[in-house]
Formats: sequence, C-alpha cells, structure tokens
Amino acid sequence: MKKITITTDFDVFDTVQELPKDIQNLMQEAVIIRKKAYAPYSKFNVGAALLLDNGKIILGSNQENAAFPSGLCAERVAIFQAGSIYPEAKILKMAISAASENSTTSAPIPPCGSCRQSIAEYEIKQNTPIEIYFMGEIGSIYKSDSLKNLLPLLFDKKFL
Ligand code: THU
Repeated sequence: MKKITITTDFDVFDTVQELPKDIQNLMQEAVIIRKKAYAPYSKFNVGAALLLDNGKIILGSNQENAAFPSGLCAERVAIFQAGSIYPEAKILKMAISAASENSTTSAPIPPCGSCRQSIAEYEIKQNTPIEIYFMGEIGSIYKSDSLKNLLPLLFDKKFL
C-alpha cells in the first residue's frame, strides 16, 4: 500500500476591490445575472459570467424546475451557451456569485460537482486552463488557476 497526496491551491482576495479590474467587471456581470436567476424553490440565486478569447462575455443564472432534477446550475447554463454560440472560442475566465434569499451568504460558493465535470470537458477541449473566481453575496473571493484544482482525479475522454 502507498499513499498519494494531492494538494491544490487557491488565491484568496478579501474584497472585490482587490481583484484585477477585468475580474471586477466580470464579477459585476455575474452579480447582475444572478439577480435574474429563476430559483423559486431553493431561493438560492447563482450567476456565472464567462470571458471568452474573442472578447465576448457569456452569462448564465440557475434555472429551477418543479421537477427538481430538471433544473440547471448557472455555471452550466453559461458554459453550454458559450459552447453552443462560439464553439471555436476559448473560455479564459469564469466569475461566480451566489446569494440566498434567506440569509447573507459570506462563504465563497464553489461550483457543484456536476458543474466541475462540465467545466472540465471544455478545459480539456480547448487545452488551456480556465481561471475560476467564486464568491458568495459578500466576503472573500477564491481564485482557482484551473478547473483541475477543483476536481483532482477527473474523469475525461482518455479513459474511454
Ligand atoms: N446551483 C448553481 O447554480 N450552481 C452551483 O454550482 C451550485 C448550485 C443552484 C442549483 C439550484 O438551483 C440552487 O443553486 C440550489 O442548489
């Protein structure tokens, strides 16, 4: 028996003002689209903003459904939209903002496991890392240099 240790690191920004200017703008877009989320069941609103290498910004918010599993997270709404409209473009950066209608969310809210798997597909497809910044409604922002930090031992096409 042997042990494998996997370490990942994140940058932590204490405030939005500490972020680079382009990311402040991207996070602002995530906040604006978060407010358009359709989340009548969870009351948990999430917004995602992607910056593509063609300069376009693609947005998504979570879309819920009375049949709960039929809804979709903000990150996948955005990433599938980017893949559909600009299949040749690379996704450079992603900003995520999440807020509950029941309480003030100050913890950075990371993408869920299914979204990580979906983001991984595009990172592998484009062969360049996607920077991911995520936060709650207030508080600090975590930055991951690549999706791989969020999903070590990921499943991808090389196993098929
Ligand atoms: N949600 C997202 O939009 N992104 C995530 O990564 C986590 C969860 C949404 C799904 C659902 O509409 C609500 O937040 C509560 O889980």
